Amino acid sequence: MIQRVAVLTGGGDAPGLNAVIRAIVKTAVREYGIEVIGFRDGFKGVMENRVTLLTEAEVSGILPRGGTILGTTNRDNPFHYQVAEGKFEDRSDQCIETIKEYADALIVIGGDGSLSIGYDLAQKGLHVVGCPKTIDNDLAVGQAKTFGFDTAYAFATEALDRLHATAESHHRIIVLEVMGRYAGHIALHAGLAGGADVILLPEIPFTYEKIIAKINERLSQNKRFSLVVVAEGAKPLGGEMVVQKVITQSTDPIRLGGIGEVVARELERRTGIESRVTVLGHLQRGGSPTPYDRILATRYGVAAMDLAARGQFGYVVSLDGEHLKPVPLAEVAKGIRKVDVEGELVKAARKIGICLGD
Ligand code: F6P
Repeated sequence: MIQRVAVLTGGGDAPGLNAVIRAIVKTAVREYGIEVIGFRDGFKGVMENRVTLLTEAEVSGILPRGGTILGTTNRDNPFHYQVAEGKFEDRSDQCIETIKEYADALIVIGGDGSLSIGYDLAQKGLHVVGCPKTIDNDLAVGQAKTFGFDTAYAFATEALDRLHATAESHHRIIVLEVMGRYAGHIALHAGLAGGADVILLPEIPFTYEKIIAKINERLSQNKRFSLVVVAEGAKPLGGEMVVQKVITQSTDPIRLGGIGEVVARELERRTGIESRVTVLGHLQRGGSPTPYDRILATRYGVAAMDLAARGQFGYVVSLDGEHLKPVPLAEVAKGIRKVDVEGELVKAARKIGICLGD
């Protein structure tokens, strides 16, 4: 039986992180009499020995709050730790020692980057439990649906509703660029929920000809405006993704962004229809989690703590259909889960006339 568990949040924040932390602490204290400590700012806090005791008082009132009370970072991999400008070392032993000094097990709340680090630490003997998180919903851990995704695409849907009104009034093409890295889950879901005319996904390279055919079809029906949702990782057939910046210390160094502007400019040039672009960016990540995400995050927190208390280490909790089940951490190494281009959602989009650019 463990006496103390440590928890950290790593990678990009996602709405629901605080709800997970709260559920872990409440379950630990009430159900198992286990003490919880939090490392600040993900693995950076471990490397810099920055901890805080997480009591019930500490997590009171945080359920609806966006962000993470622990702080996070998507840099500072202990296996590839920056010790000086341009100089990296494997400091994983130091990392494990520090965690063991404070706790018997570590719960990592993170996406593929942080969970991969968790897996590597587990391989070296650390007791690790994973809790999957990302607004991108792209974790290849079982069928894991991640908290934060529902909030992110709900916000993108609201944005589309707002853009609909102004696009229609001005007879414009409006392009909405959403996040999602190399997967188009946010774009597909928001596009379907928000009634987009065109949805461009990283999984389906697009051509301008196909998009313009859709715009022309609408014009022929006297619909003089069009809404295009483009995932940040979308690319034209034979072309490349638009990279905004490269962050070398990050577990995933590429930051995408800018394809929305490219598409809007090109559509305006080719059609002569005035076009505008809105980039939702980090607005999708901030804000209060939806009720769905609050519940999912709470379930994940409870389930992760249950695993840790039972000594079931080396697993990530994962939502499979309606049920939570433990999935080996090793699954994270399989890469990301992309949109199934033959899946029912994509087929539904096509059947109702949404153009996917191909
Ligand atoms: O993985 C979550 C995510 O928001 C992606 O959708 C996006 O590409 C990336 O993180 C942005 O990262 P950063 O916060 O470093 O700009």
